[in-house]
Amino acid sequence: MSILVTGGAGYIGSHTVVELLNRDENIVIVDNFVNSKPEVLEKIKKITGKDFKFYEVDILDEKKLNNVFEENDIESVIHFAGLKAVGESVEKPIEYYYNNVTGTLVLLKLMRKYNCKKIVFSSSATVYGDPGTPKYIEEFGRGKTTNPYGSTKSIIEQILEDLYASDNSWNIAILRYFNPIGAHKSGLIGEEPQGIPNNLMPFIMKVANKELDHLNVFGNDYEGTKDGTGARDYLHVVDLAIGHIKALEKLNREKSGVFIYNLGTGTAYTVLEIIETFKRVNNVDVPYKIAPRRSGDLAIYYADPTKAKKELGWVCERGIEEMCRDSWNFIKSDK
Ligand code: NAD
Ligand code: UD1
Repeated sequence: MSILVTGGAGYIGSHTVVELLNRDENIVIVDNFVNSKPEVLEKIKKITGKDFKFYEVDILDEKKLNNVFEENDIESVIHFAGLKAVGESVEKPIEYYYNNVTGTLVLLKLMRKYNCKKIVFSSSATVYGDPGTPKYIEEFGRGKTTNPYGSTKSIIEQILEDLYASDNSWNIAILRYFNPIGAHKSGLIGEEPQGIPNNLMPFIMKVANKELDHLNVFGNDYEGTKDGTGARDYLHVVDLAIGHIKALEKLNREKSGVFIYNLGTGTAYTVLEIIETFKRVNNVDVPYKIAPRRSGDLAIYYADPTKAKKELGWVCERGIEEMCRDSWNFIKSDK
C-alpha cells in the first residue's frame, strides 16, 4: 500500500516525502513541475537513499491521474499540489480556482472511485481572514478571505466538510499552515521560487545573495508588534513536514472524521527580528528600506498550536536561528 503525495516535488512536499521515506513508507509522487524542478526528485533520493514512484501528471488530467490509482494501491493521499502566489492569484483568478479547486475535485472523484478516503490537505492560516485577535484558534472557523488564493483554500475546506457530511466514511485532516521557512539540513532541497519572490524569506535570501540590492520592509507603524513591523508565526519546514506524518498517524488511528489543526509555533517574530537574526547567524548583510504597508497585510498573527500538541503530539522543535541558518545553507550549498 502506498501514500500518494500530490505536489511532492514542491517546497513542503519534498520535505514531507523525505520524512515519509525516512520512516520506510511507500510513496507515489505526482507533480507537473509548474512550480518545481525534476532535479528535486534526485535530491530526495540522495538524502534518503530510498526510491519511490513518480508520475509527471497534472492533477487536472483525470485520465492520467486515474492511471496512477489504477497502477498503485493508494491507501491515503497528502495533497500539496496547488498554486500559491497571492499576488498572481489576484491577476489570474480563473487559473487559480481551476487549478486548486477543480484539481482537488478531480482528485477527490478518483479517491472515491478507488475507495481511498483518507486525505491530508494543505490549508493556510489565511482562511481565518481577520478574526480581530492575533492568536488564531481552530474553532474560530473560516473568515472572509482577501484574495483568490486564500479563497481556494477556504472553498476546498468547505468541499471536504461537505464531502464528509455526505459520506462519513471519509477520514480528513485539514492542516492550516502558518509561515514555513528554512530548508533541509543537507542543503539539497529548499524553497526555490521561480521569478520575483512574494514571501519574506525568499526575498531576504535574494538580497543577502546580492541578486537584489535591498529588501522593502512593508510598514513600520503597525500597532501591537514589538518594533512596528509586521509579525508572523514562522515555522521550520521540517517541523511542518513532520506535522503531516503526525496527521496521517492520527487518521490511521481514527475510523473517520474531519480534523482541523493549526501548524505553527505559537510565537510571532517581526520583519526586523527576522532580518537581524538572519544577518547575525549567517554573518551576511541584508540592506533594507522602510516602504509603505502592503495591502491586505495584518499587523500580527500567530497560531494557537495547543490542539495539534494535544491530539497529534506535534510541537515545533526548531527555532528561528535554525530556520535562518538552514534557509541560507540551502542557497549557499554546492548542489
Ligand atoms: P510549491 O509551489 O513549492 O509546491 C506545490 C507543488 O505542486 C509544485 O511542485 C507544483 O509544481 C505542483 N503543482 C501545482 N499544481 C499542480 C497540478 N495541477 N498538478 C500537479 N502538480 C501541481 O508550494 P509549497 O510551498 O510546497 O506549498 C504546498 C501546498 O501548501 C500548496 O497547496 C500551498 O498552497 C500550501 N501552503 C503553502 C504555504 C507556504 O507558505 N509555502 C502556506 C500555506 C499553505
Ligand atoms: C502571505 C500571504 C498568505 C499566504 C502566505 C504563505 C499576503 C497578504 N498573505 O502571508 O495569504 O498564505 O504568504 O504563502 O500576501 N514582508 C516585507 N517585505 C517583503 C515581503 C514580506 O516586509 O518583501 C513582510 C510582510 O508585510 C509580512 C511578513 O513580511 O509582515 C511576512 O510576509 P509573507 O512572507 O509574504 O507572508 P504573509 O504575509 O504572512
